[in-house]
Amino acid sequence: MLAMDEPANLLKAEEPSRQSFLGKFKEIQIAMTFRDVVILPGRAEVEPSEVDVRTRVTKRHALRIPFVSSPMDTVTESEMAIAIARQGGLGVVHRNCSTDEQVEMVKRVKRAEAVVIRDVVTVTPNHSVGQTLALMEQHNISGFPVVEGSKLVGIVTGRDVRFAQPSLLVKQVMTKDVVKAEEGITIEEAQTMLRDHKIEKLPIVSKNGELSGLITFKDIILRGKYPDAARDENGHLLCAAAVSPFDLDRAKKLDEYADILVTDVSHFHNVNVFKATKKMMAELSAEVVVGNIGTFQAAEDAITELERVSGFRVGIGSGSICTTAEVTKAGSPTLFATAQVSDAVAKYGAKIPVIADGGIRTPGDVAIALTAGASAVMIGNLFARCKESPGTLITIGGRYYKQYRGMGSPTARARRYSLDRYSMPSKGVPEGVEGWVPYKGEVNTVLDELVSGLRASMGYAGARNIEELWSKAKLAALSPSGAEEAGPHDILLPSEAQERV
Ligand code: XMP
Repeated sequence: MLAMDEPANLLKAEEPSRQSFLGKFKEIQIAMTFRDVVILPGRAEVEPSEVDVRTRVTKRHALRIPFVSSPMDTVTESEMAIAIARQGGLGVVHRNCSTDEQVEMVKRVKRAEAVVIRDVVTVTPNHSVGQTLALMEQHNISGFPVVEGSKLVGIVTGRDVRFAQPSLLVKQVMTKDVVKAEEGITIEEAQTMLRDHKIEKLPIVSKNGELSGLITFKDIILRGKYPDAARDENGHLLCAAAVSPFDLDRAKKLDEYADILVTDVSHFHNVNVFKATKKMMAELSAEVVVGNIGTFQAAEDAITELERVSGFRVGIGSGSICTTAEVTKAGSPTLFATAQVSDAVAKYGAKIPVIADGGIRTPGDVAIALTAGASAVMIGNLFARCKESPGTLITIGGRYYKQYRGMGSPTARARRYSLDRYSMPSKGVPEGVEGWVPYKGEVNTVLDELVSGLRASMGYAGARNIEELWSKAKLAALSPSGAEEAGPHDILLPSEAQERV
């Protein structure tokens, strides 16, 4: 029924004419999902251990492993971004918080201690030489900053204590005039100071002289404990941040610190979003990954209308917490979307990496996404399970779980900061759910499993790297019974048996 204030001309309007609707069914495309396909085993001239999983995540930035964590408030804050970057992947810091909070999280990642030791072992001026020597042996360290409280007052090295009386005190043998640097020093500057002063250790102090870190020559040589870490040209960990194209002020502030900005829009293929993104891109220096998109046409429009696309975030409605496709009946499953967008990139020879986002449950899903043209995958669920995610840890029936929620879920929306990902605030309906995922410990363990499984898949495909996976690997569709057969069957698994007890 029409409302009383409906314009009169609408009442008079003619019924619009129809064309063929059966055509829609004739042209229907099959939007395959990860569960619908397998990779056909191919002739292998490579062992899984020899497979190279390095990739590019944007035009400029490479990763050792093709994994990116989702910008969600139960997945990626500083801790997760640091841990993933150390393993060679990338974290995208979420934006469901104030600008200052998000900028602070990014700064924390950029300041992280890949080349600066933070948990520094120290001695006090009243330690004895004997105690210091023992500590050196215990920690296999050749020298310590000397602190009073947390104030740096000296440095003591092997040379100072080796031939000294064990009963002497550190204050009697230490170097008091310490060569030190302030927080924020770059690796290049530190390297120059170490070389110029012919020293091996450079304490880092805060403005009021408190010891906050230590840069050692050895760590610089070894590139820290994480040789595979994703780093920028200054050796800081790589960090990405989610942005809304409609919040230019936030994007500009993040641009000062983040290497990559990732648009966080559930339907990027929208003229207003395109316009705002174009304007935003003109003001930023960081690379911009755009998305989410799900079709060839969306990628084609982005390639031709936006000049500075550095990556595509692809897939609509496949996320484990998504209800978009259910609520709105609109979506493009990540696998199908990846192939669509990859074909558009290929058509234009655009060399823009494609990040397959949502729905990844197993290493095999990762391999399938890469086979369909992705350069990397974005994951929420599997990383929300980890120690480094910000979600709360709880126990249910004696087992540990972590909270995980969609950014369109009612409680995430209640924080309101990223409400515009799904719709304008006044119109929105929830497009996500929240719940719990089983706790899995540290993210490096989860990444190790994913990488090993991915190598195994690539070994089956006979692909020695991701490019070969693109060119060589073939997919086959599974029938519903085939999909069922692909998992364990006709056996009572221990977990099920336990539930029956
Ligand atoms: P997984 O499957 O790894 O997917 O949990 C994570 C991705 O899901 C998207 N996302 C959402 N999609 N409603 C949606 O329709 C939501 O509330 C929601 N929250 C996150 C997002 O692309 C993420 O990377």
